[in-house]
Amino acid sequence: MDSPVLELLHREDWGPWMPVRDRLRKWHMYPELERTFRELKREELFRSPIHGEGHIERVILLGALCAMERDLPDDDVRLLLLACCYHDTGRLSDWLDDAHGRRSAFKLERITGLAGDDLAMVMAAVEAHSRRDADMDEIINGYTPRDQKRCKELARLLKDADGLDRVRLSDLDESYLRTPEAVKLADLARWLFDAYNTELKKRGQEPPKKPDYYDRDLVTRVRNRVHDAILGGQAIMETVTGCLTELFGCQPPEALIAHSCGAAWSTEPCGAWEGAHCFVRDYVLQRNGDPKSAAEDFRRRFLKQYRSDRCCDLRTCGFREDDPVWLCASFILDVILFTYYFLTRDVSFDDTDGA
Ligand SMILES: [Fe+2]
Ligand SMILES: [Fe+2]
Repeated sequence: MDSPVLELLHREDWGPWMPVRDRLRKWHMYPELERTFRELKREELFRSPIHGEGHIERVILLGALCAMERDLPDDDVRLLLLACCYHDTGRLSDWLDDAHGRRSAFKLERITGLAGDDLAMVMAAVEAHSRRDADMDEIINGYTPRDQKRCKELARLLKDADGLDRVRLSDLDESYLRTPEAVKLADLARWLFDAYNTELKKRGQEPPKKPDYYDRDLVTRVRNRVHDAILGGQAIMETVTGCLTELFGCQPPEALIAHSCGAAWSTEPCGAWEGAHCFVRDYVLQRNGDPKSAAEDFRRRFLKQYRSDRCCDLRTCGFREDDPVWLCASFILDVILFTYYFLTRDVSFDDTDGA
């Protein structure tokens, strides 16, 4: 069986959770859940130890459990399962990347074949999952689903299913969950994470290592700084170099290279990339290192992470005139954190491919 979670569902060692598993297997939507695991387009998923296949498999199961406990209508169960499958396909990295929900949403039509109101519902839920709860109504309005209440329920359940798997980061705070059904599943989510990793070991696979580089306070601090700068009209390169200069408490780079990011459709290098690249060279030079090889190494890793250094490829959804400014801010934040960890952690996050 390809799916570790499907394998688990066929086993009898669920300990105190056996009654929940039995109910799930008797649920009239259980065949739909099994089909979801079998037909999951794994090649579309973001490859990462944190937001990759393992996370998605667990979120599908947790979403199904939330749906069952809340007695969600059958059509909405199908939509929720699809949302769980592909909600992270638009990720560019494992950092905050709060624009990835919107990127994922724009891939859904192609991946799922959904159309019309069903597509609008799932797109809204997926876009909302990486944004603040306070933005949910506005996001849903933007997709004009026929039934906004139904759509909101879908968005809330996706967020809860996704949130429950924060156990993998030892960062689940039940008070952030939106539904009482999800709160009751918190201990099961912890058990599921361990059981999933045990299953991987039985298959001779190493469970993904917990990241040692995620610092929530640092992320929050840089996010606020970037959002203020970008919304205040500061140029992208200056924002990137300014933030990095503050983080390292060093001198700012002497000369910033000219760039054309932010112009209409631009095939020029992205301003965030240019600022970071420039900072890395200067930072290494200030410490009497070899700026040329550091810059080359940085470029290699940057391209591995983001697949391009051009503005038009890195814009959230390709390039859309109606992209709000915060989408760019999200990417800039990502690049700053990527650069910070490149310079401080060196190899620890080098090759993060995997489950
Ligand atoms: Fe996500
Ligand atoms: Fe997720």
